[in-house]
Amino acid sequence: MKRILVLGATGSIGVQALDVIAGSPDLELVGLSARSSWETVVEQARAHGVTRIALTDPESAGRAAAAWPEGEVHSGTQGLVELVLESEPDLVLNAIVGSAGLGPTIVALGEGIDLALANKESLVVGGELVTALAEATGARILPVDSEHAALHQLIAAERSAGPGTIERLTITASGGPFRGMRRSELQRVSVEQALAHPTWSMGDKITIDSATLMNKGLELIEAHHLFAVPYARIDVLVHPQSIIHGMVTLCDGAVLAHLGCPDMRVPIAYALNHPERMELDVARLDLAAVGSLTFEPPDLETFPALAIAREAAIAGGTAPCVLNAANEVAVHAFLGGRIALPRIAEVIEATLNELGATPLREFESLFEADRRAREVAAQQLA
Ligand SMILES: NC(=O)c1ccc[n+]([C@@H]2O[C@H](COP(=O)([O-])OP(=O)(O)OC[C@H]3O[C@@H](n4cnc5c(N)ncnc54)[C@H](OP(=O)(O)O)[C@@H]3O)[C@@H](O)[C@H]2O)c1
Repeated sequence: MKRILVLGATGSIGVQALDVIAGSPDLELVGLSARSSWETVVEQARAHGVTRIALTDPESAGRAAAAWPEGEVHSGTQGLVELVLESEPDLVLNAIVGSAGLGPTIVALGEGIDLALANKESLVVGGELVTALAEATGARILPVDSEHAALHQLIAAERSAGPGTIERLTITASGGPFRGMRRSELQRVSVEQALAHPTWSMGDKITIDSATLMNKGLELIEAHHLFAVPYARIDVLVHPQSIIHGMVTLCDGAVLAHLGCPDMRVPIAYALNHPERMELDVARLDLAAVGSLTFEPPDLETFPALAIAREAAIAGGTAPCVLNAANEVAVHAFLGGRIALPRIAEVIEATLNELGATPLREFESLFEADRRAREVAAQQLA
């Protein structure tokens, strides 16, 4: 039995992960966390026979402890650390949203525990330090993002080949709900329209990132760190059907592609079971029914966030951390109805312009860069 700890259990990825774990005799759930959804997480613990949970919001942790005296409830961000250490998992699934996921990523990898990583922000914010930490302790990072899970499988198939075998990586993008629109039209789109993703059902933050194409910018940085491929050799391709998730171009001109119906339980199950596979009751791909697969380049004029992310990625140092923090602040403002969608990219660009990129030496400088970027982004909004 592989012992699995699920962080961010009440979210879109977390709930699907519990479904995957319940369907496998080889996976044992040993702990759960959320920020404030204490009723849901206590219900999940009862339903799955889990005895340890953590809530990062102390007030919610207090309520959970009162309502569930038979369980062990950890509180605050320190509670998350305790949960990782005390539940003795073989693998931690980090499905927390935003840079709040960086702390648990560091703790798990620092302890040498394998990490199934949905929280792409961990790699965006501190990719170099995070991958160096994994290398130092021998912990593996298994991507949960569908594009990266696809690339992970394709690259694994070529692992025995020599250096230089892999020429390019391609991550696909659905294009989001506003594909085909002009930038001026985006001024008037509503939060509800932005949350109506054409192919994936996900949490609010990543759905807005998909609408601005920032999600692909974050994924570009994630791919660079996971697979150690330079940015100039990672492409983003718009593919509205979301059937091909990732492609690898080899040095002999061959192109390997990973296909499947869009269902996050597939990459979640891949990461949780690696290197084994489990049987999954998901829709099988019927290409004759799909009919045609189409492709187009991303429209960087309408969706500048992707270009801004690529620039910050190449600048390196603290720039990707600043990019991420400013994005989180601006997305929050958009979801709260305070700004129009195109303003998100403007706030990020202005924050990057003000703070620039400084070299990275330690995790501490990331937390400081994150804090400072949030301040500057908030000033931009004001
Ligand atoms: N959803 C997808 O299909 C998908 C696909 C690929 C990658 N991802 C990535 O997976 C991650 C999770 O996405 P999601 O869509 O599942 O998000 P979500 O539905 O918003 O769920 C987020 C989870 O994180 C918890 N959380 C939120 N803020 C937190 C904080 N400050 N500290 C600790 N826990 C916190 C939430 O708890 P509460 O319920 O208490 O707020 C919830 O359990 C993101 O990094 C996203 O980019 C998601």
